[in-house]
Amino acid sequence: MTEKNIVILISGSGSNMAAIADAARGGQWERRHGARVAAVISNRPAAGGLSLARERGIATQVVDHTAFDGREAFDAALMAEIDRHRPTLVVLAGFMRILTPGFVRHYEGRLVNIHPSLLPAFPGLQTHQRAIEAGCRFAGCTVHRVTAELDHGEYLEQAVVPVLPGDTPASLAERVLSQEHLVYPRAIERLLARPALNP
Ligand code: GAR
Repeated sequence: MTEKNIVILISGSGSNMAAIADAARGGQWERRHGARVAAVISNRPAAGGLSLARERGIATQVVDHTAFDGREAFDAALMAEIDRHRPTLVVLAGFMRILTPGFVRHYEGRLVNIHPSLLPAFPGLQTHQRAIEAGCRFAGCTVHRVTAELDHGEYLEQAVVPVLPGDTPASLAERVLSQEHLVYPRAIERLLARPALNP
């Protein structure tokens, strides 16, 4: 079976990355799909997810965006690091950087993201606060392919949770995050099971 390397990009706590890595091990993605999480790369040296990755025996790297002059230079360095792993799939998991069109084009068909809203509602930041303020009865998350337009691209999975009376952005975020941990590994495994990732 061909080897399918998954590279996961994070900026923070890395709970989605850990859920994917655990699903890969528990679901025997290596045996069933020839796939493994080859590396976790963070743009923040202090990202909590780096230690979660190391605990799981996954190679980690930091490409610190503050060390670069602009987006183009950062993205070029990031691409070089990612490409060392010859990735079949590049997974954005709480990676809080806007990517240049060149980066997105380079990984076209191989780049996926999870966004903590029911897209097309609430692209961008502070999704939970905006959902509460808008009076939404439901919120959720979306796994989607990444295109040059922020938080657009084919939707691969969505999960819905209720917005409950008295919810704060933090309580809603927690409810949504628990669903993210289910849908993101599922979406990735579905992609891996396809004969071609982007038929
Ligand atoms: C997740 O809720 C993810 O959907 C969100 O950041 C959180 C990362 O948590 N991503 C975005 O807002 C991207 N625009 P994690 O680091 O624990 O996986």
